[in-house]
Amino acid sequence: MSAAVIQSSHSDDFKKPQSAPRDYAFVREWNDAVRLAQQHWIWSYIMDEKYPLHPAAQALVSADNPTREPVHIADVGCGNGTWLLDLYRKMPQTMCDKVFYVGTDLSSDYLPPTGDMPQNMTFSTLDLYGDMPADFIGKFDVVHIRMFAVVVKGNDPTSLLQNVVKMLKPGGILQWDEMAVASCRAIASINGVSTMASEEWIKALFEKFKISFDSSYEWILHLSEYFETVGLKIVDSVHMECPKELRRTMTSNIITASENLSRSMSRDESWIGKWSAMMAEVNQGVCMVQDTVMVVGQKPTIS
Ligand SMILES: C[S@@+](CC[C@H](N)C(=O)[O-])C[C@H]1O[C@@H](n2cnc3c(N)ncnc32)[C@H](O)[C@@H]1O
Repeated sequence: MSAAVIQSSHSDDFKKPQSAPRDYAFVREWNDAVRLAQQHWIWSYIMDEKYPLHPAAQALVSADNPTREPVHIADVGCGNGTWLLDLYRKMPQTMCDKVFYVGTDLSSDYLPPTGDMPQNMTFSTLDLYGDMPADFIGKFDVVHIRMFAVVVKGNDPTSLLQNVVKMLKPGGILQWDEMAVASCRAIASINGVSTMASEEWIKALFEKFKISFDSSYEWILHLSEYFETVGLKIVDSVHMECPKELRRTMTSNIITASENLSRSMSRDESWIGKWSAMMAEVNQGVCMVQDTVMVVGQKPTIS
């Protein structure tokens, strides 16, 4: 894929009317790619030593086994590939020539040109709701998914999970990082500042999500149960609140994401008024936060 291809697909997206049916709830544009890069930093900060790779997955990848075959790691729906690149940088030197990194996404819009990347890293398109390519089946030691709240269809990740599990080798690990969107709340970080307008905005936003995307995001709170449904053994299930010192950064991330998503929603006077009132509170020190969830599961060695 050449840089020219990336450029032209962005231009096409700008030309689309905002009401045109799209393959994805977000409008793909450069600002949104920047938001993804910020999100990666937020994840690294919150999950700390469990990031980018959960220690159980890292142990599997780094297992000292002289006869072992090369390790394959996939990041599916990888966006601009920040998670994979960070993982590459942090991989122990001794593993450098043993690990192969694969990034896939429905769209090539954010994918980095493979030619710019390390030799053992490739990027390609893949629809996780389509047929899994034969050469991906049973190939990966680790598969990673992150931020699929608006990608999962019908408020149920089962069919997507079933497809992704096919990619794992027996004993392979799936790590899914997700924002618990339904936990979104307003916090007055400065005493005496009202959060009323921000809470109303959140309520209205969720009503709009329901109408525009048929999404309630309740499934995220039960992600580990869905893992078990598709036969994965739970290795870890983490639910973290946003640390106090990160609240402002997360606020900017939530507002940026909501601004993008709201372009697919009806924006009448009442909504515009709610948005302005929320922004007035945020400018006085109100923060918007949500919890983060990480579920790590292992495919049985004998299925
Ligand atoms: C919110 S972004 C997260 C990107 C990346 N995982 C990250 O955390 O930075 C969701 C990504 O899923 C991709 N996506 C949407 N529908 C998909 C599908 N059916 N199959 C694969 N990827 C999909 C989008 O193109 C987008 O890059």
